[in-house]
Amino acid sequence: MAALKVGVLISGRGSNLQALIEACRDPATNARIVLVLSNKADAGGLVRAAEAGIPTAVIDHKAYENRAGFDGELDRQLKAAGVELVCLAGFMRILTDGFIAAWRNRMINIHPSLLPAYRGLDTHARALADGVKLAGCTVHYVRPELDTGPIIVQAAVPVVSGDTPETLAARVLAAEHRAYPLALRLLATGRVKVEDEKAILDGRPVSGTILMNPSE
Ligand code: GRF
Repeated sequence: MAALKVGVLISGRGSNLQALIEACRDPATNARIVLVLSNKADAGGLVRAAEAGIPTAVIDHKAYENRAGFDGELDRQLKAAGVELVCLAGFMRILTDGFIAAWRNRMINIHPSLLPAYRGLDTHARALADGVKLAGCTVHYVRPELDTGPIIVQAAVPVVSGDTPETLAARVLAAEHRAYPLALRLLATGRVKVEDEKAILDGRPVSGTILMNPSE
C-alpha cells in the first residue's frame, strides 16, 4: 500500500503537527506529509514543517472577500500537492460546507475534549467548572456542524485535584500527541471505514481508545 499523502492545516504552534511529522518517520504509519498550510504567517508550526523539509504555504484569510474564496484557494493548493487526507491541527478557521463536503471522509480534526462533550472553545475551563473527573481528546472526521463527525480515536486522562485549565490542557495535549498519530496510522493503513456515520475499526488489536495514567 502506497504511503498516504497528507496535508496539514494549522494556525499556531503546531505541536500536533510535530507529532504527525514524527509519526510519519515510522514506515508503519504509511503516511507522508506533502504540504503544511497556515492561515497565519507567524504560525510556529511553519518552522517545524520547514525544519522537517516539508513544503509550506501561507494563505492569509484576510486577503479573501469571503470564506468561500479562502476555502477555494485551500482546496486548490491541497489538490495541487496531491493531498489525499487533510488533517486539521489547531486550524482556527471555520470551513464552508462546500469545502467540508468536497473532503468528506478525507478530512479529520483533533479536538481537546471527549466529544460530544465540550464542543467549541475553552474546553478545559468548562470541564473543570463542571467538576468532571475524566478529560481527554478526540480525533474525528469533519462534518459541517462544528466538532461533530464520526469518532476515530479518543484518549482519556484524569482530572486531578488542583488542576487549572493550563495544567489540564498540558495533560490533554500529551494525550493528543498520541491520539493523532494513532488515528493517522489507522487511516493510512486502511483500517478505518465509515458506516452509518460511525468510524469502524477493523477489529485487530489496536483500538481507538487510549487511557493514560497521571504520570504519562
Ligand atoms: C490542540 O489543543 C488541538 O486539540 C486544538 O488546537 C490545539 C492546537 O495545538 N484543536 P497545536 O498547535 O497542535 O500545538
